[in-house]
Amino acid sequence: MGDLRVELGERSYNIYIQKGLLNRVAQDISTQFHPTSVCIVTDTNLSALYLSPLEADFKRLGVPNCSFVFQAGEASKNFAVLEQLCDCMIQQKMDRSSMLIALGGGVVGDLTGFAAAIFKRGISYVQIPTSVVAQTDSSVGGKTGVDFGGAKNMLGAIHQPKAVYIDPDVLQTLPARFLQDGLGEVVKYALLSGGALYDRVLALQSPEDFLRDDGFIIESCVDYKRRLVEEDERDTGSRMLLNLGHTVGHSVESYFGYGRYSHGEGVSIGLVEILRYAVHNCNLNHEILEQTCALLQRLNLPVALPERSERIFASIVQDKKCTGASIRVVLPYAPGDVRICTVNTKDFMDYLCKDLSEKGVF
Ligand SMILES: NC(=O)c1ccc[n+]([C@@H]2O[C@H](COP(=O)([O-])OP(=O)(O)OC[C@H]3O[C@@H](n4cnc5c(N)ncnc54)[C@H](O)[C@@H]3O)[C@@H](O)[C@H]2O)c1
Ligand SMILES: [Zn+2]
Repeated sequence: MGDLRVELGERSYNIYIQKGLLNRVAQDISTQFHPTSVCIVTDTNLSALYLSPLEADFKRLGVPNCSFVFQAGEASKNFAVLEQLCDCMIQQKMDRSSMLIALGGGVVGDLTGFAAAIFKRGISYVQIPTSVVAQTDSSVGGKTGVDFGGAKNMLGAIHQPKAVYIDPDVLQTLPARFLQDGLGEVVKYALLSGGALYDRVLALQSPEDFLRDDGFIIESCVDYKRRLVEEDERDTGSRMLLNLGHTVGHSVESYFGYGRYSHGEGVSIGLVEILRYAVHNCNLNHEILEQTCALLQRLNLPVALPERSERIFASIVQDKKCTGASIRVVLPYAPGDVRICTVNTKDFMDYLCKDLSEKGVF
């Protein structure tokens, strides 16, 4: 496992990936960034597991530190918790050379990054991602924010971290359902990247197998994301590739009410649907569809909808990527050859809604 660097001019930063890294993070932050003080932001699950040793490290190093712990879960990614965090930072007299440390999954990372983006017009922060979603995806790229007005990530900013510290050992304590959930996105990265990552992910026999990987999978996912972030930091072009499987995935998540399907499960179904579409419309090899379905099933992820109706996919036409007659979708032509395409909305919707047995895909 090695280090990667996101090249973004003066906003460039390193991504360190190493087992056991958590023990050395405080030392590295202190010598590299010399913060006047730090606030470790984490949730109730992670604080019980990893907070005390990190606090003790900063104490030993003489770095003034405090912590802000909030209730674990997406429901906390909101304005009220953001406000409490900002209050805490003011009480602790944090200044422009203070740093926030996001110790947790994507919820902690997004909320902390947003607080860092707006506090005193922007202070530094680092990411210590602890979930599969955060280690393979959300900790890199600087997208930060909170849910607001009933919509996900409605308020936010792009604010890059100063460094990302990935310690795959911490995944050992991640509950099984969040491990599985993150693997939906890992399969997405495997299809996007193709090559060695695709082969390695395809070899996984169970979710737990991912925990036995030597770090190659995490590093490859992050490296793929790094490249897209460098190309398209503000998400106006190629970064859209990361939406592979998400057009249908989001509609499934929202139709069944968030909760029935997790995000990763929605993505899993979305991947299968778009692969099926691609077999018929992009010359995707049928074997890739079969291999991916079998893989998702081994990872305990759903590959089929419980029912198929127009209503499930209705939200697709309301999406910003849909301009009425046409819709932009991310289509897999082969693993490693995924393209952003504009297709006819009606044809796309007709295909999704049609009874699959008619198409002879399975
Ligand atoms: N910024 C981005 O680019 C980006 C990308 C993808 C997702 N996201 C966001 O990420 C969030 C989802 O992230 P998530 O799945 O990590 O959710 P999460 O942060 O809620 O973590 C999932 C659960 O696992 C627990 N947990 C995390 N790591 C653990 C560990 N090592 N040991 C024990 N428990 C652990 C958490 O306490 C939580 O209960 C969403 O809000 C999503 O919008 C952001
Ligand atoms: Zn996603």
